[in-house]
Amino acid sequence: MIIEPKTRGFICLTSHPTGCEQNVLNQIEYVKERPVKNGPKKVLVIGASTGFGLASRITAAYGSNAATIGAFFEKPPSEGRPASPGWYNSAAFEAQAHKDGLYAKSINGDAFSNEIKAQTIDLIKSDLGEIDLLVYSLASPVRTHPDTGERFKSVLKPIGQTFTDNTVDFHTGEVKEISIEPGTEEDIKNTVAVMGGEDWQMWIDALKSAGVLSEDFKTVAYSYIGPSLTEAVYRKGTIGRAKDHLEATAFKITDALKAINGQAYVSVNKALVTQASSAIPVIPLYISLLYKVMKEEGIHEGCIEQIERLFNARLYAENLELDEAGRIRIDDWEMRDDIQAKVLELWKQATTETLPNIGDLKGYETDFYNLFGFKVDGVDYDKDVNEMVDIPGLQ
Ligand code: NAD
Ligand code: NA
Repeated sequence: MIIEPKTRGFICLTSHPTGCEQNVLNQIEYVKERPVKNGPKKVLVIGASTGFGLASRITAAYGSNAATIGAFFEKPPSEGRPASPGWYNSAAFEAQAHKDGLYAKSINGDAFSNEIKAQTIDLIKSDLGEIDLLVYSLASPVRTHPDTGERFKSVLKPIGQTFTDNTVDFHTGEVKEISIEPGTEEDIKNTVAVMGGEDWQMWIDALKSAGVLSEDFKTVAYSYIGPSLTEAVYRKGTIGRAKDHLEATAFKITDALKAINGQAYVSVNKALVTQASSAIPVIPLYISLLYKVMKEEGIHEGCIEQIERLFNARLYAENLELDEAGRIRIDDWEMRDDIQAKVLELWKQATTETLPNIGDLKGYETDFYNLFGFKVDGVDYDKDVNEMVDIPGLQ
């Protein structure tokens, strides 16, 4: 079929297998040239199909020849209906990995559930014996609690007061003010239940009880801080409470892994266009200004550049520097004083009229379409493609 983008607000309902494949191959090429010394060997990535999780899987596999198991929640294709992009990404990754003699298998389902945890552990036991790295890169709007069956919905709201500031609709380029009412105590609790550290801890507990964690095992989960501009709606909002909880969980996990000398980290990553971040109000305007400034300075990174740097300059480097709160920082370039001062200056000037010049709206839009395999360089979109693609290592 011929597949075209069909957007609804900040989502795209279609995705392109060839474009997704090209994105994956580009990331593989990037990492192949940057091997990770003493990197991981047997890796489980939860949230492995898109964004930072996919980049983590590719970096482990192609940076240090690691066997990888990817867990994710993606929609398979049906006749005439393309799959979700993470499906095509995983298909492309596993096909290439198998060609290159790398172990790569995957599990598609709700990673919050006990069933998916049990299935993953069985696969580790039968194929790998143990893992030495778990990357936790889930981003989800909902979670059903595996023990109580309660369904939680996360929300992106400020706490304590109404938040009012500008945002941009990147499809139309319109800059306009939005107001978001503060979240309730219930909203905070629900958001922490979805995006906090409880499920990460549950994975570790299950893996540890099954005896499949190696000596010196490491685990890393991803967080975000961001500037004062977005603080009220992000880091000091409901999602920020969840990130506080996630960060606190790292210390608990490290304590629980003393016997095997295990270590849990949180890495604070840069703001990037992903399916998760395009849903957050105000962030698209911030990102379009940030991209402009960071590209001008020659320090712009995408997911793969970020994660390759995480592995090579942080997690598997000789000396791992942590911030005052014990976190890994790869948002260091985003947060540089000179970068933030420029973004703040542009923020004050941003209107529908000025944004095309002062911001990188084009870059934002391209990245957004790229997430779904569209507008990818070198792909012929007029060519008929088969939407019915299998993931070769899917269990
Ligand atoms: P993403 O939307 O690209 O990836 C989410 C992944 O989670 C996908 O693989 C998806 O299949 C999987 N997933 C979702 N629900 C699932 C479920 N129930 N069971 C199994 N898999 C499920 O998101 P991302 O932006 O790469 O986010 C990953 C992490 O990085 C999040 O914790 C996010 O907060 C953090 N982070 C993101 C940014 C950013 O700007 N995008 C910045 C810093 C940190
Ligand atoms: Na991810």
